[in-house]
Amino acid sequence: MDRTEKLMNVDRSACHGQPPVPPGPGTLAHSRALRFWLDPANLDQAGPVVRTRTGPATAYQVNDPALLRKVGSDENTFRFWGPDPSLRDFTENGVVGIEGAAHRERRTVMRPAFTASRLTALGPEVQARTLSLLADLPADRPLDMRVEMSRLACGLLVSCILNSELAPGTLSKIAAARSTLSGGIFWRYALAPWPWVPVPRRRASSRALTELDEAVHEVRDRHRPDPDGQDLVSLLEAAAPGNPHVVLRDIRALLIAGMETSASTLSWACYELGRYPHYQQALQDEADAAPDTSRLQADQLPLATAFVQEVTRLHGIPFLVRRTRHETCQGGVRIPAGAVVTLPLGALRRDRNRYPDPDVFDPQRWLPNAEPPSAPAALLAYGLGPRYCPGAAAADAMLPVALATLASSRTLRPARPGRRIGVSLELTPTPKGLTMYATPREPRTADTRPTPGANIDSRSGVVSTTDAQA
Ligand code: HEM
Repeated sequence: MDRTEKLMNVDRSACHGQPPVPPGPGTLAHSRALRFWLDPANLDQAGPVVRTRTGPATAYQVNDPALLRKVGSDENTFRFWGPDPSLRDFTENGVVGIEGAAHRERRTVMRPAFTASRLTALGPEVQARTLSLLADLPADRPLDMRVEMSRLACGLLVSCILNSELAPGTLSKIAAARSTLSGGIFWRYALAPWPWVPVPRRRASSRALTELDEAVHEVRDRHRPDPDGQDLVSLLEAAAPGNPHVVLRDIRALLIAGMETSASTLSWACYELGRYPHYQQALQDEADAAPDTSRLQADQLPLATAFVQEVTRLHGIPFLVRRTRHETCQGGVRIPAGAVVTLPLGALRRDRNRYPDPDVFDPQRWLPNAEPPSAPAALLAYGLGPRYCPGAAAADAMLPVALATLASSRTLRPARPGRRIGVSLELTPTPKGLTMYATPREPRTADTRPTPGANIDSRSGVVSTTDAQA
């Protein structure tokens, strides 16, 4: 280590072009179905559209990237999952459950809440709220990271995007219910054509939905409108005067969709921090080198942003799903009416023609000057077409700051190193059995604090000083 690296306490072996650091113990156990959806071999070998079977379910997987975009965008032929009758309990009347002109109008109503100028204020708010949500995290016992990250994701969504609050008890209840809700939606949709096949945990998911609705009422009751009336809930209220039912359904949709994906991203980030602990230090160094360490912004955190992108590449939503409205022919294959069509994003993200060493977790491939450059848009992290995620810009502003704050305030250590981690089949797969200790970070000693002028080497993600570079 040279002087700068010692000063910054950065382990160079974490850097681009250096021998890679082997991952810590901990392997993943994907189910057979997930292994299929994540297998890039299907993309070239199986043809543009392939018929698949999982248990009783037949589906048509679209492997051709151009066709995949067409399917994701063409709502006249391919119906989005939200309005499916099997999901009426969960999605009815909310933005996820409506279609056509009503859906386009609702999306237009929400748009002003996600403008760039509003999102600049998000970083510091997310940082402060992350710190307050982490303050209660016990340090002396293993934590189920799926639940803890659901609590963090839900708390951030409610405070920073919905301008409201939940009592700590409600937040914990919703965090505990997230997996049941998500699994309930997944299985109801997947098994809809076979009503005689029992949906796993149907009663539990109905109970979880009741709990979620109590939280949704609390969010609306405790909503604090922005003075300009352009925050998300104010916009929804103004668009449906005298119709609280519609507003409540939209809050519910935003809570389910936003918490699910953000919680899964943060849970997988914890999993990777446990396997590659040197990134905890590098993320902390990056946050410490920000111009104002108490007002973090995602655009000051290229490594945290890259880390989130790499988590999405390896662990993000493995496939999108649609159902045909009528019989259609795609890629030379006849697809009957009502058939499930899957878009295998996970396989595309593990394709070696797109990403060198695709199975290696390497956030550095997303840094601004990485060679070869990687384009985040190619991940399709937020979907495509008319259902493109409305919260995408907010998630991009929120998650790197939450991750940097987490890595700066806690040290995460797997409670059972080497334990196989399962992957749940839910709306968004999450790590099952991931228990970790989250101990408060030791305060830095004076000689390891970044000096003025410290900056991030955007290729390596490593903090250095301008003096030392000269
Ligand atoms: C890491 C974070 C996130 C990821 C990866 C993500 C991903 C996605 C994807 C892929 C879709 C489209 C699904 C499909 O086409 O089948 C979607 C839709 C949606 N997302 Fe997100 N999302 C994230 C965060 C958020 C947040 C923070 C919110 C709320 C503010 C949100 C609200 C929604 C809603 C309401 C929809 C449905 C849109 C519609 O039906 O028109 N998402 N998201």
